[in-house]
Amino acid sequence: MGFKVLGTGAYVPERIVTNDELSQMVETSDEWIVQRVGVKERHVSVDETNADMGIKAAERALEAAGIRAEELGLIVTATCTPDTLCPSTAALIQRGIGASCPAFDVNSACSGFLFALETAAAFMEKNHYKYVLVLGAEHLSRTVDWTDRSTCVIFGDGAGAAVLGEGQSNLASRLFTQGGDEVLYIPAGRGNSPFYTREEPQHRIYMNGQETFKFAVRRMAEDLQLLCADAGLTTDDLSFIVPHQANTRIIDLTARRLKIPMEKFVLNIEKYGNTSSASVPISFDELVRSGKLKKGDKIAMCAFGGGLSSAGVILEW
Ligand code: UT7
Repeated sequence: MGFKVLGTGAYVPERIVTNDELSQMVETSDEWIVQRVGVKERHVSVDETNADMGIKAAERALEAAGIRAEELGLIVTATCTPDTLCPSTAALIQRGIGASCPAFDVNSACSGFLFALETAAAFMEKNHYKYVLVLGAEHLSRTVDWTDRSTCVIFGDGAGAAVLGEGQSNLASRLFTQGGDEVLYIPAGRGNSPFYTREEPQHRIYMNGQETFKFAVRRMAEDLQLLCADAGLTTDDLSFIVPHQANTRIIDLTARRLKIPMEKFVLNIEKYGNTSSASVPISFDELVRSGKLKKGDKIAMCAFGGGLSSAGVILEW
């Protein structure tokens, strides 16, 4: 048994931080950020939690799907910036939308939404859930070091969601992990154990941008090729590609490597920056609501990030 997407939703907080505003905080410029990353502005939370953003995205997805929260069989939320390590963000979203089904988080950093989608698909198969809610929700602005210009200009906050129902629209999927914390990591906060002696850095994002960049281009190109082969398609058969919005240059290089026209890629990094696991579902929601999708269209989604990890899926609309 597979699944089909019944409805999508997304939410970003109201407060916009422009590149010019950032230029007053760290030594950077609108020109550098636009040229090297592709971001013009990002949304940051002022008083909303990660779960608050997830709840709003979930409500929009449920409305689009025409499903009531009480009908959900499962909620899976991808996040690497939970409000609390316990309870899970999914549990808080469950209460917020008035659902009563099991709910849990998965974490595969920026690839998280696609890992969550695959988890949901497996649970649908095993437990015969009729409707499952899958989210990517991130409150990165709380974790970013706002004095580090190499990361603070990149990220933004937001959430995206999809309601899945029974169907056969998932044609192929791939998950990949190359475990390690050398390139990209966010240490958890530590308590006050008098026994634990290891020195650990502060709770914030540490990223080797260039290594992440190389990994991203390599994986995106390879994942898209493998996915197409698995589904018996070529990249020409793809109508749209929804990539993780981390850097316009990553998407551009992937497009050139695979000779895929850039117009097929959904791009919104200039408005939101990198919202980690929320980036693919926010972009997917934009595509769905754009009215551009036609029945039978093949859509690839692909993401990469901490783990290191990457993931991809091909859906038939
Ligand atoms: O979603 C998780 C996955 N994350 C990613 O995919 C991120 C992938 N990596 C990237 O997008 C890029 O590597 C960055 C945007 C993070 C950095 O761009 P880059 O072109 O790789 O820059 P770089 O790290 O090679 O640095 C080049 C120069 C350095 O100055 P020097 O040493 O050449 O004088 C940096 O200090 O750019 C400097 N720099 C900046 N200058 C102005 C770094 N950040 C900034 C900045 N403004 N914000």
